[in-house]
Amino acid sequence: MGQDDHLRLRIIEDHQKLDRLFKSVEAALRQLQEEGADVEVLDDLREDLRFALDEMLEHFGIEEEAIFSHLKEALPDMATRLDQLEAEHEELCQKTTRVRRLVAAAHQGAAALNTEQALEVVAEATALLTRHNRLETQIFVEALSRLDEAGQARLMAALSAT
Ligand SMILES: [Fe+2]
Ligand SMILES: [Fe+2]
Repeated sequence: MGQDDHLRLRIIEDHQKLDRLFKSVEAALRQLQEEGADVEVLDDLREDLRFALDEMLEHFGIEEEAIFSHLKEALPDMATRLDQLEAEHEELCQKTTRVRRLVAAAHQGAAALNTEQALEVVAEATALLTRHNRLETQIFVEALSRLDEAGQARLMAALSAT
């Protein structure tokens, strides 16, 4: 298996973890929509959202600090595309935080959960995440083919920390 395949596998695994978390958030919201408020489902949903946000912050943080900054230095013509990925990280965190606030308010009994609104934001975040991950994988594969041996080793090492 070439380095290229290792890189793809590594990124795909990480991205699948986030995909799964969003699917489980969506399923919980649908359950609440169909069956009405349920403390246990709300509890799990709150935990899933907290975990999703932590995972995203960690994954995005490593990408930005260890990978993007290195690529911007080594391959300056990629900077605009990498800035776009960073902006999407921000947007994904904002959307997740919005859903988290809606769920937290419902959990505290401050407001009934607007499941329709929450599902809409989750759908937007999921679509953005899918697009983001596809583009990011393409960019990393392109970078790998253009970096020298030391640069490739650095990229692979950074990726195994994500
Ligand atoms: Fe990313
Ligand atoms: Fe990523």
